[in-house]
Amino acid sequence: MGFITLEDIDTAVRAIGERTSLRPKVGIILGSGLGLLAEGVEAADRIPVEDIPGWPIPAVEGHAGQLVCGNLESQPVLILQGRAHYYEGHPMSKIGLPIRVMQRMGAEILIVTNAAGAVNPDFSPGELMLITDHINLMGMAGLTPLRGPNLDTFGPRFPDMSQAYDRDLMALAREVARERGIQLCEGIYICLGGPSFETPADLRFLRGIGVDAVGMSTVPEVNVARHGGMRVLGVSGISNKANLDGQTITTHEEVLAAGQVIAPRLSVLIRGVLHRL
Ligand code: HPA
Repeated sequence: MGFITLEDIDTAVRAIGERTSLRPKVGIILGSGLGLLAEGVEAADRIPVEDIPGWPIPAVEGHAGQLVCGNLESQPVLILQGRAHYYEGHPMSKIGLPIRVMQRMGAEILIVTNAAGAVNPDFSPGELMLITDHINLMGMAGLTPLRGPNLDTFGPRFPDMSQAYDRDLMALAREVARERGIQLCEGIYICLGGPSFETPADLRFLRGIGVDAVGMSTVPEVNVARHGGMRVLGVSGISNKANLDGQTITTHEEVLAAGQVIAPRLSVLIRGVLHRL
């Protein structure tokens, strides 16, 4: 039901093409409360996502829902400020549409960000985590945007995921972090369906299977990007410590407030990476 076709993708590409002449080299997705980076884009064309046919419209607070197309550190970028999440009710197939559109417009690199809860007890709110790999728990049970007829134009039916996050881009991010004095921890991200946060027993399970940070996005998008052969850099902003002991409460307000601290650091890191591409 309702799988994304090449025609759906190209319809969206054409609608965007009527509003911007930009040919992006890098697609960037900004997570909850992390919109700051989009403000620095020069000569930006801003396109409300409501104006793009078929686009999954985000409904959650902290997401403006626009495409920002322009130059950042002299690189042509297409920034999605405000992503749609599966828990909002969108079909999983639609979660992949923005990635397909970015790639079809010319983007070869995807930089994906999110707000995440720290399952690793060494991580603290406000820190950035370089995503070195992910656990596709939802995908393992078949919940993936790659389900349905394969889009051969983009990639094979059974795409490799041995290097979901690009080693060279990770090395670049580490270098930039070191030079700019940004603390950058590293770890494994997992996407859960949400929208409820985890129970202490959920979190002990996640810790047991090797998770460092938990969120409600990114993995389906990275799956689609890698299927298409895009190179991916993933960064989580740690917004809260996961409630492993059952003594603390996690709220969306807390996640957005942490974004105020995380967004400036994330901007410096991503700008640094773009500068050196
Ligand atoms: N759990 C799941 N998703 C999240 C969290 C969390 O603790 N923090 C931010 N996104």
